[in-house]
Amino acid sequence: MHLCRDISSLAFGALPGKLSICDGFCATGIRGIRYKKENTNAASITFVDLSEKAIKCAKKNAIANGICGKKSASAKTNVRTNKIAASKSANAGAGANDAAAGCKFVHAEICSYLRENPFDFVELDPFGSPAPYLHDAMHSLAYRKLSYLSVTATDMAVLCGAHHAACLKNYQSAPLDNEFCHENAVRILIGKVARAAADFALGITPIFSISHRHYVKIFFRVQKGAVEAVESIKSLGYVSWCPKCLSRTWARLPLVRKCPCSGIYVHAGPMWLGKLWDEKTVKKMIAQNKKRKYENELEIGKLLSLIAGELSLPLFYYDLHVVCKKQKVGAVAKSKVIATLQKAGFAAASTHFNSNAIKTDAKVEDIVKAIKGH
Ligand SMILES: C[S@@+](CC[C@H](N)C(=O)[O-])C[C@H]1O[C@@H](n2cnc3c(N)ncnc32)[C@H](O)[C@@H]1O
Ligand SMILES: [Zn+2]
Repeated sequence: MHLCRDISSLAFGALPGKLSICDGFCATGIRGIRYKKENTNAASITFVDLSEKAIKCAKKNAIANGICGKKSASAKTNVRTNKIAASKSANAGAGANDAAAGCKFVHAEICSYLRENPFDFVELDPFGSPAPYLHDAMHSLAYRKLSYLSVTATDMAVLCGAHHAACLKNYQSAPLDNEFCHENAVRILIGKVARAAADFALGITPIFSISHRHYVKIFFRVQKGAVEAVESIKSLGYVSWCPKCLSRTWARLPLVRKCPCSGIYVHAGPMWLGKLWDEKTVKKMIAQNKKRKYENELEIGKLLSLIAGELSLPLFYYDLHVVCKKQKVGAVAKSKVIATLQKAGFAAASTHFNSNAIKTDAKVEDIVKAIKGH
């Protein structure tokens, strides 16, 4: 999670304004501490955890890292787990952001806490799925015209379709256990967030998304308004994938049944069919990564440059190993396939989702030609 926190801190630092943060599942506090310590846009920070031990640890760490003075850090820890003394809270009530300075440490269950406390930025980093916490996060963000949400999910087997029923239950979306399952995972999670937001007349825009190792992490801009909510919902739809020829198509409704190759499409969704990144945010993150000299600078630089290369390309990557296997041809160099496609006039690039995969506006038959003809 070290690299995930590096990337999260870069993404947080790219957000405009001075933001009150809720580090919702803070554990040792390391994520929130880094947001505040490494960036200039954190107005205040509230650490919340169900474990009293964790909250004590977060407080110790925050002091040791100099992100809050002893005075504010030693403010009485709220030990309620279900009821919150919201009215006395520095973050209580809309507009209380101005009053909130420094740090706050809250021993509480996150849902009940978020329900009564508004924030500009909510961090949800639970064990497994963030789905049970999304409504209460929206409750907290709905006080603001503009706010931000950061969500981690580690239930990759569910989102990637290995546990189909669990995905239906947790995300109300049919997953697809296929060669682009990691992109489906990101899109299914965003779809769930869009629907939770719409319940509160909030619209969402993903500004940074990443699928890496055992987790996906997504940063959202959240905007108040029924129109914004409807716009987000209009970006939901289905992907239809042909297991026979590997072609795919996507639309708001999965109306097609048969692939031109005569294969039968398998449908997955609803999921987010919109953009996964805001270009300016990615550029800022790249620039900051060069300045910060993180231990993981090189790996982060590679990931961010892959993302910068794929962010304007069409949805759903092609895994070249899978295409080659289907065509019964030996493995080919990805760089050569990309170059051949580009020479033929297509857009093509590597993707951060999978090191054997490409994103392109070429159709599967053009990719096959590029594989066989290079
Ligand atoms: C995955 S860890 C968080 C890791 C941390 N954000 C980091 O970057 O290292 C999850 C934490 O959430 C806490 N937790 C679990 N359920 C919770 C709940 N309903 N409300 C608040 N905290 C909860 C656990 O005690 C644990 O410390
Ligand atoms: Zn087909």
